[in-house]
Amino acid sequence: MGQFSGKVAIVTGGNSGIGQETAYQLAADGAKVVVAGRDLAKGQATVAQIQAKGGEAIFVQVDITQSASVAALVRQAVDAYGQVNYLVNSAGAVGPVANTVDATEEDFNTVVTTNINGAWHCMKYVIPEMLKVGGGAIVNVASVIGVIAFPGLPAYASSKAGMIMLTKVAALEYAKQNIRVNVIAPGSIRTPMFMDFSGGTPEAEAYMATFHPIGRIGEPPEAASAILWLLSDGASFVTGHVMPVAGGWEVP
Ligand SMILES: NC(=O)c1ccc[n+]([C@@H]2O[C@H](COP(=O)([O-])OP(=O)(O)OC[C@H]3O[C@@H](n4cnc5c(N)ncnc54)[C@H](O)[C@@H]3O)[C@@H](O)[C@H]2O)c1
Repeated sequence: MGQFSGKVAIVTGGNSGIGQETAYQLAADGAKVVVAGRDLAKGQATVAQIQAKGGEAIFVQVDITQSASVAALVRQAVDAYGQVNYLVNSAGAVGPVANTVDATEEDFNTVVTTNINGAWHCMKYVIPEMLKVGGGAIVNVASVIGVIAFPGLPAYASSKAGMIMLTKVAALEYAKQNIRVNVIAPGSIRTPMFMDFSGGTPEAEAYMATFHPIGRIGEPPEAASAILWLLSDGASFVTGHVMPVAGGWEVP
């Protein structure tokens, strides 16, 4: 019996990085987890790992930029487990580093539609399911780069800022209906996205570590445990909150 026993969580990007670690921690703490993502093999491997440890999970393939795909994901979650209590929006895209003038329209649109429309689609289809069961909790995964400007990431920074505002709006809209909506703003976390973005070299990691007063980059379990707390009843009076998980990288 864990603190999430009997509860159902959808984790987008649950087959990689922060989302995958969140899926592992939720399952270990009793939740039935719907691991949602694009990559089937990684999704099946994540579910197998959860099941090997006695947890319960299914994988559903989704493209969060497509509202019909997200609607189908939520339907499959309800068909499998009867309800949805938690949503973690961890799927996201960073795109290539390019200044405002040099960013291509295609890259810009991909990042914005993934991060903003994707998170919005998931909230749009999950919140009605939460209302049916008297409430729930949502955690969106934004970034410190959604609060602090970072050159070369115009689409990423503005879309993560947009995710923060999506969070705050929904938090106000559903506060009285017992749905809490919070957002984490991670600094650099050692995931496939970070490795791709930074190039994965020790020099790049050392450079990114300089942004974090703690003196290192973060690990996926350190982001996941913040997400779990925000989902948990321990955070019952916390909604609309932007939580930095960034080793002291100052977020105004
Ligand atoms: N790693 C970091 O340093 C860092 C820092 C700040 C914020 N974040 C955010 O954390 C979240 C998780 O990223 P991560 O670092 O674990 O990287 P990751 O690459 O391991 O995970 C991101 C996942 O999102 C999935 N995804 C992308 N577009 C999708 C789509 N259209 N439909 C479904 N899935 C899609 C990818 O396939 C991947 O599995 C992202 O939103 C990212 O922006 C990461």
